[in-house]
Amino acid sequence: MALCLCRDDGGCDCKPLQFHLNGFFAPLRLCGESGFKVFDMARSKSSSRWLKEHFDDEYVTRAQQEGYRSRASYKLLEIDGKDKLLKPGMVVVDLGAAPGGWTQIAADRVGDKGVVVALDILPMDPVPGAEVLQGDFREDEVLQRLLDTLGEHPVDLVMSDMAPNISGMKTVDQPRAMYLVELTLELAKTVLKPGGDMLVKLFQGEGSDEFIKACRTHFRKVIIRKPAASRPRSREVYVLARNYFV
Ligand SMILES: C[S@@+](CC[C@H](N)C(=O)[O-])C[C@H]1O[C@@H](n2cnc3c(N)ncnc32)[C@H](O)[C@@H]1O
Repeated sequence: MALCLCRDDGGCDCKPLQFHLNGFFAPLRLCGESGFKVFDMARSKSSSRWLKEHFDDEYVTRAQQEGYRSRASYKLLEIDGKDKLLKPGMVVVDLGAAPGGWTQIAADRVGDKGVVVALDILPMDPVPGAEVLQGDFREDEVLQRLLDTLGEHPVDLVMSDMAPNISGMKTVDQPRAMYLVELTLELAKTVLKPGGDMLVKLFQGEGSDEFIKACRTHFRKVIIRKPAASRPRSREVYVLARNYFV
């Protein structure tokens, strides 16, 4: 486990842990990569900018006031408000779920008769009404655990807000991000019932247009959403692929 400063473009907008380092309170999160990252002084300017933006951010304030675990919650709330994705009784897979904002919303919407299976590489506090798994989605053993947990339940919605740790090097980060969305599409093709939906965070860049094309060959309708809570300078968008067909 590593500690790293979580910053903008990786979509790392989870509710921060307050961490005291050398008299400096900073939002930190646990990352699944091995090694130990601490503050890089050369980055301290942009880190300060990130800190200021984070604490001035209206969605961070709202999340704290309204009991959501992350500002990311408002992305799903907006998409769900527009596209009516989540319904009572649904079976939902939530990938990259920590700290659990999307899981809270999904569990609430699907209700007692629904099922929500949430997965993250990081530990996550339990969410009432959801099954929480910890592991790296890229690993076969973790995928198998997820499939075992779903059992025979045909899935209505696969959603992924996964964002890899950002190295700052485009040539490394974009392929990592694309690998996660491609694996998500593979899972969707394996577990979705005909007519099911997929919502996935996509970083625009090399490979993203091809990914959207691939979605169009498996879903009847593919829409790109950029919710207001998604920072304008971030390359992230959400691909909403609806009505899966075999
Ligand atoms: C933007 S955050 C998700 C926020 C979440 N949707 C919420 O509402 O609280 C992205 C998450 O993706 C997770 N993630 C990144 N790579 C992953 C992987 N290979 N397997 C599982 N989770 C991963 C990160 O640990 C991080 O918690």
